[in-house]
Amino acid sequence: MQGKPVRESQSEYSELALPNDANVLGHVLGGKVMHLADMAGALAALRHARCPVVTASVDHMSFLHPVHIGQLILLRSSVNRVFRTSMEVGVKVWVEDLKTGERRHTSSAYLTFVAIDGDGKCMGIPPVIPETPEEKRRYDEALQRREYRLELRKRSKPRASPLKSPATGDLEWETRRQGDAAKSN
Ligand SMILES: CC(C)(COP(=O)(O)OP(=O)(O)OC[C@H]1O[C@@H](n2cnc3c(N)ncnc32)[C@H](O)[C@@H]1OP(=O)(O)O)[C@@H](O)C(=O)NCCC(=O)NCCS
Repeated sequence: MQGKPVRESQSEYSELALPNDANVLGHVLGGKVMHLADMAGALAALRHARCPVVTASVDHMSFLHPVHIGQLILLRSSVNRVFRTSMEVGVKVWVEDLKTGERRHTSSAYLTFVAIDGDGKCMGIPPVIPETPEEKRRYDEALQRREYRLELRKRSKPRASPLKSPATGDLEWETRRQGDAAKSN
């Protein structure tokens, strides 16, 4: 599959913070910013893959400054690296004070999107070609982040199902937990 440069996926997304998105202090809810990051990330992923994508994971997200109602939330996103069916997208969020024009970086996030074919199966996507030193740095670092998140995924896999045991009527996971406890005693 022929690669595509990072610049082809670069995207911008913006939204004016309105009262519906506010908490009791008049600041935009963190969940709203997370939603916008997902949207901006999906845009870059779609531009790269040119097929439907789903969000597989979102890495840690911090909020450095509050976003006030009436301010503009600006997001920039691009594909950092493609693995096989998945890709890491970086999203950077700024808040712009429309009265002064001042912009402040408020959050960054890494999201993983997976490309899905017409039968709902994961499908391979073209590699991304980093060109600038910044893109190359992000490309290199994305591999370490992937290893970390796949390790987290492995550890967070459910160890038991909540199905009822046909023999006892107990919830299976309770049975297994008791078994685990017995083993550790
Ligand atoms: C993400 C999803 C497609 C993965 O499906 P799966 O059957 O587990 O597929 P696989 O294990 O083969 O993984 C497919 C790819 O996703 C990656 N992946 C899966 N879970 C991941 C995670 N938590 N973090 C990062 N990458 C992940 C795998 O590494 C693999 O990438 P690669 O092909 O580039 O190596 C599936 O779990 C899903 O559909 N989840 C729901 C997505 C959704 O609806 N999101 C919206 C929020 S509700």
